[in-house]
Amino acid sequence: MSSFPEFALDRAFGHPRGLLGAAGGWLMAHRNAATEQQVVRLARLSGAERVLVVGPGPGVGLRAAAGQAAQVVAVEPSEQMRHAAAHRCSGLDNVTVQGGDAESTGQPDAEFDVVMSVNNVQLWPDRIPALAELRRVLRPGGTLLLSTHSQWLPGGRAGLDADVRAAGFTDVQVWAWQPRGRGPTQVQARAVRPG
Ligand SMILES: C[S@@+](CC[C@H](N)C(=O)[O-])C[C@H]1O[C@@H](n2cnc3c(N)ncnc32)[C@H](O)[C@@H]1O
Repeated sequence: MSSFPEFALDRAFGHPRGLLGAAGGWLMAHRNAATEQQVVRLARLSGAERVLVVGPGPGVGLRAAAGQAAQVVAVEPSEQMRHAAAHRCSGLDNVTVQGGDAESTGQPDAEFDVVMSVNNVQLWPDRIPALAELRRVLRPGGTLLLSTHSQWLPGGRAGLDADVRAAGFTDVQVWAWQPRGRGPTQVQARAVRPG
């Protein structure tokens, strides 16, 4: 059984719902914005790409990606965050927000040029199958970008590096990044689906 702090954190941030989810969504939109925007910059989008955003939460990164890509699809298990992300992107006709998660995106094979996920790798119950699912939906040569709070990441940088390789990615790079001003250190990864 989880303790009250674990229960509250999960409701606010892990699987947002109810009042705690609403408060968590507001906080994430402010505190995680720099990371979301930095991950979009790492993607070096040209306006032509199809992008999958996994676990967008309130949708700050989703909106940023939509401004630089042809089409952006988000898969998000929390109904409350799907509403928040869709609301943030209202008026953008190249954004679709759907139910789903990293383990089961519901997307076709080789559909995306870029897959990105910010602050949810630590929530995936089974990381290698989830990474294999993201490899499946990337086109050959497509790029995976991951970023998450270092202190919550099971296995740390080395564990993430090993799991991304085990899931069949190549050109794997894993590093630490510190958001300017405030915010905890992030572990970030870039990898390529082999051709
Ligand atoms: C801590 S929030 C991060 C949201 C946003 N990317 C940010 O950094 O502000 C985690 C998000 O991942 C979603 N999530 C939880 N489990 C997930 C899974 N297995 N696959 C994808 N997303 C998941 C949650 O519903 C929540 O919206």
